[in-house]
Amino acid sequence: MNRGFHCSSLTMAVYKGLCLCSLMWIVSAAERKEFKVTCLASEDCVLPCQFRSDGQGARVMWYKKKAVVSCTRYGNTSFVVGHNSPADKYKGRTGLFADQVLEGNATLMLRNATPNDEGKYYCITMTAPSTDESGIISLVIEAPIREVDIEFSSDTITCSAEGIYPAPSLTWSTDPPTDARLLQNKTKTQKNKLGFYDIRSYLRLTGNVATDHTYICCVSSDTNKKTAFLRHEASIVTPAGGGVMISCSLPHTILQSFNLTWRFRRSGPIASINVVDQKSWAEIWDKWKPHVFSNFSISSGLKLHSLKSEHQGNYTCEVRTPEEIYVTWTDVAVTEDSQQYTYIYIFIILGLIYFLILSYGTLVILGYKIVGLERRARRQAENTDEATESLNTE
Ligand SMILES: *[C@@H]1O[C@H](CO)[C@@H](O)[C@H](O)[C@H]1NC(C)=O
Ligand SMILES: *[C@@H]1O[C@H](CO)[C@@H](O)[C@H](O)[C@H]1NC(C)=O
Ligand SMILES: *[C@@H]1O[C@H](CO)[C@@H](O)[C@H](O)[C@H]1NC(C)=O
Ligand SMILES: *[C@@H]1O[C@H](CO)[C@@H](O)[C@H](O)[C@H]1NC(C)=O
Repeated sequence: MNRGFHCSSLTMAVYKGLCLCSLMWIVSAAERKEFKVTCLASEDCVLPCQFRSDGQGARVMWYKKKAVVSCTRYGNTSFVVGHNSPADKYKGRTGLFADQVLEGNATLMLRNATPNDEGKYYCITMTAPSTDESGIISLVIEAPIREVDIEFSSDTITCSAEGIYPAPSLTWSTDPPTDARLLQNKTKTQKNKLGFYDIRSYLRLTGNVATDHTYICCVSSDTNKKTAFLRHEASIVTPAGGGVMISCSLPHTILQSFNLTWRFRRSGPIASINVVDQKSWAEIWDKWKPHVFSNFSISSGLKLHSLKSEHQGNYTCEVRTPEEIYVTWTDVAVTEDSQQYTYIYIFIILGLIYFLILSYGTLVILGYKIVGLERRARRQAENTDEATESLNTE
C-alpha cells in the first residue's frame, strides 16, 4: 500500500481527508491475531481489548513487549496477589473505561501518543475463573505536517516544518521554473526525543536567479504534504509621516476558507482577515491602530499612514489555506523628510553657538585666574626677597 505524497506536480491538489480520531483496523491473514491501530500523535489513542468477565472482579494488565503499560484491579480481586507498576514513560498517560471493565471491556486509552509509542501491545485479563490474553495490537503513529514556514533574509530563503512522523522530505522549485542546479540548497532533518522529525532547508539565492520568481518549498510525508510560496511584491520608498499600501497577490485558485495576515519583520501581526465559507472577520492589532486605515480589505490591501523611521523594513502578507501558505513581501524605506532635517540643523547650530559661548567664557575666566595667580606669585616672590634681604642685613 503506497500512500506517499509527492511534490512533483504542483497543480495536483492532492488532499486526503484525514479522519481524525478514527481507528484503522486491518486484520492480518496470519493465524496469530494481530490488529493494526493507527493513531494521530498528540491525541488520545484507543487500544481495544475484550475478555470474558464473571462480573465480580478482574485484573487488567497491558504490556508493550515486556514493559508494563498499565496494571489495574476492578471489583473483588481477592484471587490475585501483587501489583505491577507501569514503566515511567507510561505513568499518568493511560486509563481504562472503569464503568465498562466488569462488563468485559478492558480497552486502554493512551494519551499524548508519540512516535516512540509505536510497537506491539497486548492485554492480559484475570478473573476468578480464567485468564485471557488478547491478540497483538500493532500501534502505528502518524504526525501529519501541520504548518510549513517560509522566511527570507538578504540572500537565503529558509523553509521549515516541525513535529512530523514518519520522516518528511523537502523539495524546492520556482515559478517560472529555473534550472534545479541553480537552486543551491542545504536540508537538515532532525529527530527529537519523542521521535518526531523537524526539517529545515536553506536555499541560497544566487545572482542568476531573478528576484521576480516565486520560490516554492514543498514538504511531504507518507500522510500529507504542504507547500509554501514566497514572492517579492514591491519595494516602496516613503517620506517620514507618509503612507504606503501593502497588497497581496492572492493565488489564482479560488479559496473557500483561508487566513490572511499582514506582518512587520515577520514578528507580531499588524492586521488579519479570516475567511470561512465566504464569511470574513477582520482584526487590527492595538499597537498598529494609530497607523492603519480601518477600511482594509483583501482586494484593496492594507493602507498604513504616519510612518516613522522605525517602520522601515519588510512587510509580509501571509495567506494560509489548509494545504498551502503564500507569503509575499514588500520592503518599505522611510526617508527623513526635509522639515525634520531643518530642525536638526537648527539644533546643531544652536548647540555649536552655545558651546562656543561657553568655552569663550571659560577661557576668559581662566585667563583672569591665571593673571591673578601670577600676580600673587610675583608678590610672594617679592616678599621673600625682602625677607632674605632683611636677614642678610642683620
Ligand atoms: C471475594 O471473592 C471471594 C471468592 O472469590 C469471596 O470468598 C469473598 O467473600 C468475596 N469478597 C467480597 C467482599 O465480596
Ligand atoms: C469498550 O469501551 C470503549 C470506551 O467506552 C468503547 O469505545 C468501545 O466500543 C467498547 N467496546 C465494546 C466491545 O463494547
Ligand atoms: C536540494 O538538495 C538535495 C540534496 O541535499 C538534492 O537532492 C536536490 O536535488 C536539491 N535541489 C532541489 C531543487 O531540491
Ligand atoms: C484560521 O485561523 C483560525 C483562528 O485563528 C483557525 O481556527 C483556522 O484553523 C485557521 N484556518 C486556516 C486555513 O489556517
